[in-house]
Amino acid sequence: MDAVSWLLLFYSLPCWGQEGLHPGDQGAFQPQSALTEMEFASVSSYRGPGNHDFRGNKELPIILWWSAGLFPHFPADTERIDCNYSSCLVTRNRKVQLYKRTAAIIFYGTDFRAYEAPLPRLPHQTWALFHEESPMNNYVLSHGPGIRLFNYTATFRRESDYPLTLQWLPSLEYLLQPLAVSLQEKNRWRRAGLAPVLYMQSHCDVPSDRDRYVQELMKYIEIDSYGKCLNNKPLPERLDDTSTATGEDGEFMSFVARYKFHLAMENGLCSDYMTEKLWRPLHQGCVPIYRGSSSVADWLPNPHSAIIVDDFSSPRKLAEFIMALDSDDTEYSRYLEFKTPSKITNLRLLEGLESREWGVNDMSKPNYLNGFECYVCDQENRRLAAERTHLRNPDLHPHPPPKMANNSHMGCSLPRPGYGEVEDIPPNDGWLQMWPQDYWQSLDQAEGLDSLIRLNESDPALLWNHIQKIATRRARGH
Ligand SMILES: *[C@@H]1O[C@H](CO)[C@@H](O)[C@H](O)[C@H]1NC(C)=O
Ligand SMILES: *[C@@H]1O[C@H](CO)[C@@H](O)[C@H](O)[C@H]1NC(C)=O
Ligand SMILES: *[C@@H]1O[C@H](CO)[C@@H](O)[C@H](O)[C@H]1NC(C)=O
Ligand SMILES: *[C@@H]1O[C@H](CO)[C@@H](O)[C@H](O)[C@H]1NC(C)=O
Repeated sequence: MDAVSWLLLFYSLPCWGQEGLHPGDQGAFQPQSALTEMEFASVSSYRGPGNHDFRGNKELPIILWWSAGLFPHFPADTERIDCNYSSCLVTRNRKVQLYKRTAAIIFYGTDFRAYEAPLPRLPHQTWALFHEESPMNNYVLSHGPGIRLFNYTATFRRESDYPLTLQWLPSLEYLLQPLAVSLQEKNRWRRAGLAPVLYMQSHCDVPSDRDRYVQELMKYIEIDSYGKCLNNKPLPERLDDTSTATGEDGEFMSFVARYKFHLAMENGLCSDYMTEKLWRPLHQGCVPIYRGSSSVADWLPNPHSAIIVDDFSSPRKLAEFIMALDSDDTEYSRYLEFKTPSKITNLRLLEGLESREWGVNDMSKPNYLNGFECYVCDQENRRLAAERTHLRNPDLHPHPPPKMANNSHMGCSLPRPGYGEVEDIPPNDGWLQMWPQDYWQSLDQAEGLDSLIRLNESDPALLWNHIQKIATRRARGH
């Protein structure tokens, strides 16, 4: 039976909706027949750090992964997880959506679609958002009405509940790796005709509109551009394959490491959104020319390890700066001082790497999906316990305050042209036709979904009607 049929089945069941809002009240738990199959399946156990939660599977709150493809357990559809503080059942089986015991639903931001949201939204259920990817993947989440639907978040923003800011940086050792190509050798390559600056990009039509900037920069400084975007040089044949170009392939790495400067431009601009585009040149000992997170300086090894595009008033000024650095070995070398451990002076970076509980390619630590799932599990068990305490003695124990995300958990801004003003861009420009529109349509969707939830609708396909109504009201000036 597919998820839709299950939903239909459940809509036709008489009583799930009227059952109070206190799923944590285990004493009052009534077995629900459709649970049995799951309850008595042999649930194996994800061994977390261990806890003192001795409840049986039937008593545990359920967490539903709405984005089944990301369910971080294999091969089962349902697992017991034993987290630091407490335990939960996690499942990707959507038939539990409307269960009283289902305490939380986890969504993957890239897959989150307003027109497929689990409705009606039950007041006792929290929503949790996992979104480590680029803001461009889903601008719904960058609008207040979109992000406020979620109670817990794991995003690249440091303000999120379970921040993934350094997700692309495997370790401190990765940064401290000795120079892949010495400065003397890089200078030899320069004399042999290699440009000072590398650009390697095959994903061209992106919200940050990076090509428009690079194209302007190219007027003032030589740039070797290998990918599909602004290509002016062929890649050697053995590297002409995006799978090697994106991975940490050895040949690819030594090919790019010969360049003194790497253009490191993210596909979407958002505070704290930093990817391998930044960390890989630092790893190799090349100087990144970076545009992406406006607060990138907060995470760099020291105040002198990357060139930040937005520090320059124009591409011409930036080009002049790079050319000066290219001809001054002493100044250039200062940018690589962080290869000496004592020169990594940024405490936020050091503490961030030290304190994160998840690992990157590190089997000795949980991955961040399991980590976030456990974060949600522990939060929910604490919340449920606080609600039980409140019910037992409302005078002594107030109801726990609501908890929800806000724009500081994502909040990426309207895409702007990579160079120049929006007024100067011809109306038929591909970027102009795509991204600003996508951004504003996402706001419509966020508002539409918010309206569906407030009116307790059960059919997410009504989204379009709600968007229409909101637009009409707005046009009438309400
Ligand atoms: C929301 O809708 C469901 C059925 O779709 C109903 O059972 C429930 O009582 C409604 N909740 C409120 C607060 O109206
Ligand atoms: C897990 O619990 C231990 C002991 O209570 C605590 O020291 C540690 O910080 C906790 N870890 C997480 C990830 O919460
Ligand atoms: C979760 O977020 C929703 C929507 O923002 C909110 O109405 C609800 O009170 C929150 N739940 C908890 C337990 O904080
Ligand atoms: C937004 O969320 C952050 C972190 O969760 C919180 O510290 C801040 O107070 C919130 N801001 C507003 C305006 O509610």
